[in-house]
Amino acid sequence: VVVTIGSRDPERAATGALEIIEAWPEHRLVIGGAGNEQAAETDMVVMATPWEAAVATVTEVSGALEGKVVISVANALVREGREMLAMIPPRGSVAASVAAALPGSTVVAAGHHLPAPVLTDLARPLQADVLVCGDGAEAKQAAMDLLALIPGLRPLDGGSLAQAAAVEAFTAVLVGLNIRYKAHSTLGLAGLDNSRVPPRTPAS
Ligand SMILES: NC(=O)c1ccc[n+]([C@@H]2O[C@H](COP(=O)([O-])OP(=O)(O)OC[C@H]3O[C@@H](n4cnc5c(N)ncnc54)[C@H](OP(=O)(O)O)[C@@H]3O)[C@@H](O)[C@H]2O)c1
Repeated sequence: VVVTIGSRDPERAATGALEIIEAWPEHRLVIGGAGNEQAAETDMVVMATPWEAAVATVTEVSGALEGKVVISVANALVREGREMLAMIPPRGSVAASVAAALPGSTVVAAGHHLPAPVLTDLARPLQADVLVCGDGAEAKQAAMDLLALIPGLRPLDGGSLAQAAAVEAFTAVLVGLNIRYKAHSTLGLAGLDNSRVPPRTPAS
């Protein structure tokens, strides 16, 4: 897999890519950095800006995203006192807003509950279920196949893009748990253990 990190500042992206390569030389990672426009030229694009910048960011590169699968990981959360609360965007979810801004792309919502700080601990792969929501079956499967490359994850078909509203909002509950218990919680669903359920990616 070849990864391009996109940024408003290509130099910042290049520096970030280099830091990742140098942190895990044994993995021989193929990662580069580029401006958002160039990053959007790749086969599959992950939209991972703060929620309030999501629509503007994809709109700027909508031409390059035509015909592509775009994975939205953004959660619309607002701080109120000591809590983060879910904010419901006008279309129900950030993913639905991104989809409305990209009529020529297929938007899939995934990865909302994966805590970045522990996801980067490659020595101890995160054990997590990842809900993947979308209206295009092929696009959803492509996103699930990509996630299945990450050790310890179990991508699950979370239904249509309409379900992204519930998935994104639930992140507020997980962030609250993290604050109260000083932890990095994620999702692990019980009862999904029959032959129809995809296996978890081996942790090593
Ligand atoms: N952090 C987590 O554990 C986690 C887990 C699951 C989902 N998410 C979701 O993933 C998204 C990113 O989270 P994060 O923690 O990585 O946030 P972040 O560090 O604040 O933002 C990620 C990147 O977005 C770009 N960005 C920031 N403001 C922007 C703006 N106004 N316009 C365009 N680009 C902007 C920045 O890149 P450049 O400045 O280089 O352009 C920044 O490095 C959020 O929507 C969050 O809800 C986060």
